[in-house]
Amino acid sequence: MEKKKEKLNQSFYIENYGCQMNIADSEIVTSILCKDGFFLSENLEKANIILFNSCSIREKAELTLKKRLEQLQFIKKKKKTLFGVIGCLSKKVKDLLLKEKKIDFFVNPNSYKEISNFIRHAMIGQKYFSFSYQKNETYADISPFLKKNKITTFLSITRGCDNMCTFCIVPFTRGRERSSNPYYIIDECQRLYQNGYKEITLLGQNVDSYRWTQGLISIDFSELLNLLAIEIPLMRIRFSTSNPHDMSDKVLKVIHKHSNICKHIHLPVQSGSNKILKLMNRKYTREKYLSLVNKIRSIIPECSISHDIMTGFCNEEEKDHKDTIDLMNKIQYNYGYMFSYSPRPGTYAYRKFKDNVPQDVKKKRLKEIIDLQKKHSSFRMKEYLGKVQEVLIEGESKKNHRYWYGRNTQNLVVVFPKESYKIGGIASVKITDATSATLIGKIYKDVKK
Ligand code: 5AD
Ligand code: SF4
Repeated sequence: MEKKKEKLNQSFYIENYGCQMNIADSEIVTSILCKDGFFLSENLEKANIILFNSCSIREKAELTLKKRLEQLQFIKKKKKTLFGVIGCLSKKVKDLLLKEKKIDFFVNPNSYKEISNFIRHAMIGQKYFSFSYQKNETYADISPFLKKNKITTFLSITRGCDNMCTFCIVPFTRGRERSSNPYYIIDECQRLYQNGYKEITLLGQNVDSYRWTQGLISIDFSELLNLLAIEIPLMRIRFSTSNPHDMSDKVLKVIHKHSNICKHIHLPVQSGSNKILKLMNRKYTREKYLSLVNKIRSIIPECSISHDIMTGFCNEEEKDHKDTIDLMNKIQYNYGYMFSYSPRPGTYAYRKFKDNVPQDVKKKRLKEIIDLQKKHSSFRMKEYLGKVQEVLIEGESKKNHRYWYGRNTQNLVVVFPKESYKIGGIASVKITDATSATLIGKIYKDVKK
């Protein structure tokens, strides 16, 4: 049924916490609200409604949200601004925030189409009401809100997760895994390209398990990638996250085949110890993971690989930590994201295992892997010295406005003096210097035809 549209003259502002998926969801929520008669404000203090798109994967993200809500209570009191949390939040924290009147409403990731109703109820002081919860919702029929002068964006192709890693809250907050209709995905990417976007990152907790079936038609992730690369040949295509357990040779071959599919794989390992991987229910061993990395490098030699590693998981001993260090040394990743384990209420690990690695040990191990990654990143970045890279220009460098900022196909940041070009252009850049996080270069003029 078509929703009644009325001009509400109510503005909203969204703050994002957590992952790329939340950024993509905020653009979906913005589209829904604009369609329902609200308008987006660029100014937090002037908005009638502030939405906080929260993440509860790690305790730290939840604490950041709580701190921010506290910090902004003065606006709520002064202007009677409505505060709403969207995204992932554990039930305990949600109930507490509502009870303490820190927020006026909460909308979970499967109910965004109902967000206007939540706001209307909150406007008359009703915090709880029954709403439809669409466990199969993909939002594939909602076009993300287009921002001016943006050339790169995210698009969710799968939602939820069925993997049940024992430490992870995602299957509980986002529900079962489902895939979007590939024809909507292709149409959306085409629309983005026509609106000036030059790069799209396809998102899912586990993109490799993408599968869409209707009647006799069945499309998997490698086929989706192949279709997109052919249909939109000038669009750069990225994807995240790949699960080592599900990544197939077919996907690797498609990445290798198309120059517009970026040569970067984010491949969370979490731990280098088989004992810990088993406790985490990760469904692969370190040997399988190492052989997958070898396969990636033999099929796509120029591919960069990044990781997520979690340190201090339940029962992690010094020898398990050493296994992680050893695996990192064997792979020498381009970059990675490292965390120390925080128990999440509701997860298997929270219920069944003891969080028995002391905080100071977690901290020490985390520092060790961060320092080691920095060393590996520096080494990997130096491999680019003297090489010419194709860089998609995303904007001005924050540190020096006379430099452009962009990324190469391996998702590594490149900065170089402006000279010419504009945002959205692809420049050939010769790398002359490198830090552990940034490649520095100059425009390469001597292009051989
Ligand atoms: N504690 C710490 N890190 C976590 N992650 C997921 N759950 C937890 C947790 N309970 C990390 C994993 C995952 C990344 C998105 O967040 O490394 O890959
Ligand atoms: Fe969480 Fe594991 Fe699913 Fe990733 S694959 S979202 S870590 S349950």
